[in-house]
Amino acid sequence: MNAPFSQDILAALKQDLAAKATQLFIGGEFSAAASGETIEVIDPATGQVFAHAAAGGAEDIDRAVKAARAAFPVWAATMPSVRAKLMLKLADLIEQHGETIALTESLDNGMPFMMAKFAGIGGATEQLRYNAGWATKITGETMQISWPGEYQAMSLREPVGVVGAIVPWNFPFVMAVAKIAPALAAGCTVVLKPAEQTPLTAAKLGELIAEAGFPAGVINIVTGYGTTAGAALVDHPQVDKISFTGSTGVGKGIVRASVGNLKRVTLELGGKSPTMIFADADLDKAIPAAAMGIFGNAGQVCAAGSRLFVHQSVYEQVVDGIAARAASMKVGAGLAPGTEMGPLVSQKQLDRVMDYISTGASEGATVGVGGKRIEGDGYFLQPTVLTGTASGMKVVQEEIFGPVLCAMRFGDDDLESIATSANATEYGLSSSIWTRDLSTALKLARRIKAGTVRINGGMGVDPAMPLGGYKQSGWGRENGRSGVEAYTELKSVTIGL
Ligand code: NAI
Ligand code: MG
Repeated sequence: MNAPFSQDILAALKQDLAAKATQLFIGGEFSAAASGETIEVIDPATGQVFAHAAAGGAEDIDRAVKAARAAFPVWAATMPSVRAKLMLKLADLIEQHGETIALTESLDNGMPFMMAKFAGIGGATEQLRYNAGWATKITGETMQISWPGEYQAMSLREPVGVVGAIVPWNFPFVMAVAKIAPALAAGCTVVLKPAEQTPLTAAKLGELIAEAGFPAGVINIVTGYGTTAGAALVDHPQVDKISFTGSTGVGKGIVRASVGNLKRVTLELGGKSPTMIFADADLDKAIPAAAMGIFGNAGQVCAAGSRLFVHQSVYEQVVDGIAARAASMKVGAGLAPGTEMGPLVSQKQLDRVMDYISTGASEGATVGVGGKRIEGDGYFLQPTVLTGTASGMKVVQEEIFGPVLCAMRFGDDDLESIATSANATEYGLSSSIWTRDLSTALKLARRIKAGTVRINGGMGVDPAMPLGGYKQSGWGRENGRSGVEAYTELKSVTIGL
């Protein structure tokens, strides 16, 4: 089978990455970290260091924030149509360099190349193109007010200022772009802090931003560790807003650390999303979708369908179907031909997920299929289904962030009790419902406490659809109008006539 990418491009890329550490991008210029330190970047398919990235720290963050601060008045005053044009240019450049970026992402994160290409490159260009449209369409309102006399009353939307964008390692490139795009449309300037596990595609993004011709300082990229570079960004008094995607624990820490200057904070955090399959569902569609909903990207997806609830009359059929899919799934390196599921991102993540599997077993769950590390190099784990799980168990309550499904059954309970079970975690990010009965689907959709409800395979992330969490899955929404407005302040202006 021919690889869906050029071996020459791959060889050149590997050589480049091995030859020199990637740099920080601050004020339109590339540099090493002030400390001179670098992060070892590991290929999760081999466990070997294959690249280095600058390990930015507090000093670099300070420089980047100052560059963003200096660029802010210029960018905020740049005509919206000009901002849009630069964003569209960046999207085109990303597309032109798509193969290299997708190869880098696949090496760095471990995800299958096709996923890096479609979810990563496709998703990133869509984010830029969609949000470029918003640059010219951000509006305030005029209001009717109930004061004696005659007034003109209106609201204005203004860019919030300098944004610190902190992104995780599970979809590094598209998440970075998904934060930058609405911020740029709104007229904000940005300091991006990629995850230490996956810094490489962000470094490439810096080169394309420079090539697109954005004014210096509009977007700055500081690779580095969360506890140093990330914490310095959150602490910085000249940062007006933090947009964070990652763990709920770090999200809460960011809220606490933001009180100094009362930064605006939006958070896209963890999930423990339910998939609910009714007896009348189209099982030919529901079974593979439920399998990919948890095994896709090795389960390292905030909206992964990690809790499965199936009507007892079809429970065996559904669980057997998912188990068969799990057992036949081709697990391998992201760049190996035919790979359906890659490794976990790091030794730490592998250990964490393995710990959960053994916790599940000690809590009384049965490993229906999988459950073992795949011997050899790299952080590969078998796609896993835990059966005999129940609501109180840790594996059913906590985000595992790996290819581990907890399967449970329901009887002819009414919708209230199904909704109660589905809602019985501290999270509320996403959910999936499979039934041919429209009334059941919509009644349940109203009762589920989650930011997203997908009925019969409703699509995943689209830049037009608000994305975010109820409860401890986050604050605010990304994407859509609300996603752009999250990068603005609202001002009331009244004029006595
Ligand atoms: P994390 O929350 O520590 O990392 C996410 C980002 O936050 C990274 O860029 C990291 O450098 C940064 N960060 C870490 N500590 C920080 C701090 N004190 N101040 C500012 N920034 C900081 O997530 P981690 O440890 O990599 O993964 C642990 C678990 O978190 C996963 O198993 C999963 O459950 C969850 N997670 C959820 C994600 C989501 O998409 N909602 C993404 C990544 C992880
Ligand atoms: Mg962490």
